[in-house]
Amino acid sequence: MSKYEQSRGNHVQQSNGYHQIGFAMTCRSWEEYIRMFALQESDLSSASLVDVAAGAASFTASALERGIDATAVDPLYALDQQSVLQHAREELAQSGAKIAALKQRMDWSYYGSYERYQERREQSLAKFTASFTDPVQKDRYIAAGLPTLPLQDDRFSLVLCSHLLFLYEQELDAAFHMASILELLRICRPGGQIRIYPLFNLAYQPYSKMEQLLTELSGTGAQISWKNTRLPFIPGSKQLLCITKALEK
Ligand SMILES: C[S@@+](CC[C@H](N)C(=O)[O-])C[C@H]1O[C@@H](n2cnc3c(N)ncnc32)[C@H](O)[C@@H]1O
Repeated sequence: MSKYEQSRGNHVQQSNGYHQIGFAMTCRSWEEYIRMFALQESDLSSASLVDVAAGAASFTASALERGIDATAVDPLYALDQQSVLQHAREELAQSGAKIAALKQRMDWSYYGSYERYQERREQSLAKFTASFTDPVQKDRYIAAGLPTLPLQDDRFSLVLCSHLLFLYEQELDAAFHMASILELLRICRPGGQIRIYPLFNLAYQPYSKMEQLLTELSGTGAQISWKNTRLPFIPGSKQLLCITKALEK
């Protein structure tokens, strides 16, 4: 298990990162999630998964294909289906152009090239589209947003949140982050785990209120640990945060 590395200052020193107004609705794939969250596929077959801030990611679609109990949550699912898909397609084009402009700064060791990156995203969006529009899977896509989720207490063994918390720290304050993590803990079963990535903001700097958040979290009995991501891409962003919910007393 790795130690948190913010204090070592091994991140990239730069102030201008990915320019974004409002929230992007990106569409990462199963493989990106597995690598990003340092998951072992073999551990997931009996898990109950929830992807919070799932956007157009195809992680839930792929999990459902594998017979895994999986749910995706995003406030944009409140829109009608065609608007959600339109939003995701526009985002794919826009984010592609932004990444192309940042090409020199990103770590391409996993994707290989910008073209391959964009191709994978297109494939992932197609998978999301098929699952999201499948009436059989309707209940697996829940329109809701942090910090209040209409989900049962202790429902999931693994709670994932990719590219919302920490990333948008200019728009989402420390109180929102704390309330959101408490909500993720509420829906996580005792002994289950929350994993959050990245721990960097859009300027590609570490989340500035991490120490405060960890201090506040220490009162919950949850256990904090760090893992190394296996999805190199954001410059200097190597770790994810794991929060294990305490077993009931
Ligand atoms: C950058 S996307 C990430 C999508 C996906 N997790 C991925 O990694 O490709 C951020 C998502 O967060 C969603 N979002 C915005 N505010 C939210 C909130 N309060 N609670 C949950 N999700 C939210 C947006 O609608 C958007 O789909």
